[in-house]
Amino acid sequence: MQKISPGSNPNTELVVSSEGGVNRQLFKSAVNIRTQHFGNEVYPRGVVEISNYCNLNCLYCGMRKDNLTINRYRLGHNEIVQIALSMEQHGIKSIMLQSGDDYTYPIASLVKTVHAIRKETDLRVILCLGERKRADLEAMLKAGANMYVLKLETPNPILFQKLRPSTTFERRLNQLKFMKKIGYQISSGFIVGLPEQTHHEIFEGLMLLKDLRVDAASVSPFIPNEGSPLKNEPFGSLELSLYFLAQMRIHLQGVYIPAVSAFSLLHKDGQALAMNAGANVITINFTPKTNAKQYLMYSEKRNPVSLERARELILSLGMTSSILQIN
Ligand code: 5AD
Repeated sequence: MQKISPGSNPNTELVVSSEGGVNRQLFKSAVNIRTQHFGNEVYPRGVVEISNYCNLNCLYCGMRKDNLTINRYRLGHNEIVQIALSMEQHGIKSIMLQSGDDYTYPIASLVKTVHAIRKETDLRVILCLGERKRADLEAMLKAGANMYVLKLETPNPILFQKLRPSTTFERRLNQLKFMKKIGYQISSGFIVGLPEQTHHEIFEGLMLLKDLRVDAASVSPFIPNEGSPLKNEPFGSLELSLYFLAQMRIHLQGVYIPAVSAFSLLHKDGQALAMNAGANVITINFTPKTNAKQYLMYSEKRNPVSLERARELILSLGMTSSILQIN
């Protein structure tokens, strides 16, 4: 077992057992902090992936514009509102509307949908729709949106631009700052294990999230996606991702941290390990099954979390949640 320190050589192969002494202590501290802020509750968030169109060509993503092998879809207003109603019946507290950077999804329709969900349900609305014009962000906030998720993905601006051609780190950071200023809660985070990424910069990234006063944050292990140029790169490390998740909890204290489903692609109990490293949110997938197959965020085998699996996970951890109180 080797201790990781935030400055360690990025090329060192890290062997850190999650059973090992260093991480066991770290995870315990992280869970203690989570308990101080959230008690024993897991916060259930529902996601509906409203469009898999994307204008961008990120090197790690299978939904990139140049991937011509997937069927593209968009869900419409009525369908999304129906899904929101069903989420609420199942005890879900927030709906996340997620898509690629689909700039042709009509903004008027998004505004109408956000407004209808806020009016017809008690759900909070979280948006994860990529980089957007300021006027559009303002319009969706005015319609009732509560939070916007915009991951920084990797905190090194040079690597960022290599992996996300035609976008810049600075522009993304500015969008986050703008959203916080106008009244959104903001969420961001990093992929751990991207080629050329260093441990030091991920740690610096966590500090940046702290400075931004994010309300939620995530760490996701890198999953080589078959539909992307990085398909032959190695998977991100489970141990390292858990390590940074725990550090995130310790440094960012009471933020909402999801145990993202990418963890379950590295280990069958990956999401339980993420909860035991300090996560407190589970995202349950409500995208219609045929569409979900075409939403190639992590991989074709991406293993979306069902209500049933979320319930089993929460019960196995001895935790509680509003989705356990309803059938
Ligand atoms: N591996 C891990 N996470 C990924 N994401 C996208 N592609 C990958 C990948 N190959 C994450 C990004 C994105 C979120 C929706 O999914 O953080 O913002």
